[in-house]
Amino acid sequence: MLYINLVFLVSLLGSGCVVEGYATPGELYSSLTHMKDLFIFDDKIADILQFLPSYLQEVEEYDESHACLFKDANRMGGGDMLNPSITGNPLHLYSVIKRLVLYWPAINQVLRVINNTEYNCEDKLENCEWWSQWAECEKNPTFMLINCQLSCGLCGKPELLDKLFEIRLLEMSTVLPSISDLKGAALALARLQQVYRIPIPTLAGGRVDNVSSCVRLTTYDYIRIANESYFEGEYANAWQWYNYAFGSAKDPDVKGHIKGLMSMVLKQVNTP
Ligand SMILES: *[C@@H]1O[C@H](CO)[C@@H](O)[C@H](O)[C@H]1NC(C)=O
Ligand SMILES: *[C@@H]1O[C@H](CO)[C@@H](O)[C@H](O)[C@H]1NC(C)=O
Ligand SMILES: *[C@@H]1O[C@H](CO)[C@@H](O)[C@H](O)[C@H]1NC(C)=O
Repeated sequence: MLYINLVFLVSLLGSGCVVEGYATPGELYSSLTHMKDLFIFDDKIADILQFLPSYLQEVEEYDESHACLFKDANRMGGGDMLNPSITGNPLHLYSVIKRLVLYWPAINQVLRVINNTEYNCEDKLENCEWWSQWAECEKNPTFMLINCQLSCGLCGKPELLDKLFEIRLLEMSTVLPSISDLKGAALALARLQQVYRIPIPTLAGGRVDNVSSCVRLTTYDYIRIANESYFEGEYANAWQWYNYAFGSAKDPDVKGHIKGLMSMVLKQVNTP
């Protein structure tokens, strides 16, 4: 875990230092070189999203998150997505890992379906068209994308298959992040906040060390950061982030969930 933190701090300070090393899932962070690979892979995925139905929630989330990277690349790096001010920004590092861990698997699943039906893309059931008009592709994708490909808009996209081929090639040489990398990235943000005494709202609003970005952390990000602090036994920090998450949550169920997590922190602190 210390490594993760170190890489962030090093990159934050703008040093060109590259930490050489191994990269197995969960330890990806120990190398900045591998981080760059992630941004390259991320860009290929973004390229393919335009061919996918935008009603898929993961497609939308991925697209939105990547669009922010693109915006900052234009603003800070003259359009260069691999500019160090972007690939070295801890908030963009966290975001790229989040996209790849949380959204890519579902998108990948859809791409597999599309590829498998390349020569035989059709509706397998009579009611497909009718269902699709009632937004079933969106509400019930697991069933619909397999049985109603035509009505769900997955057929006849030769450009997509070309791009898919490129992604498969690149995938072979890219170590993709795992959930433990995402947790590590969340913990790194917690440490960053602590070490540099960045007010949480500042970091949540995309600012690190007077550099602003369009990244915005969400309630789930605050919870994730708090969770990782909690698991590391950093209870004061965990409390701060849960508290912030609680304030930002609108859904009463989510608020209740956060309250439960906060009571766990209290229990730890009050246990001698
Ligand atoms: C698409 O499916 C074919 C046949 O199953 C397979 O050989 C090929 O590797 C797949 N291509 C991609 C890009 O996944
Ligand atoms: C950040 O901005 C504040 C206020 O503008 C300034 O006082 C501070 O020195 C700046 N910090 C850095 C590291 O540039
Ligand atoms: C935070 O931790 C709780 C309890 O372990 C878990 O239920 C929840 O899914 C976690 N949330 C996130 C965003 O990691």
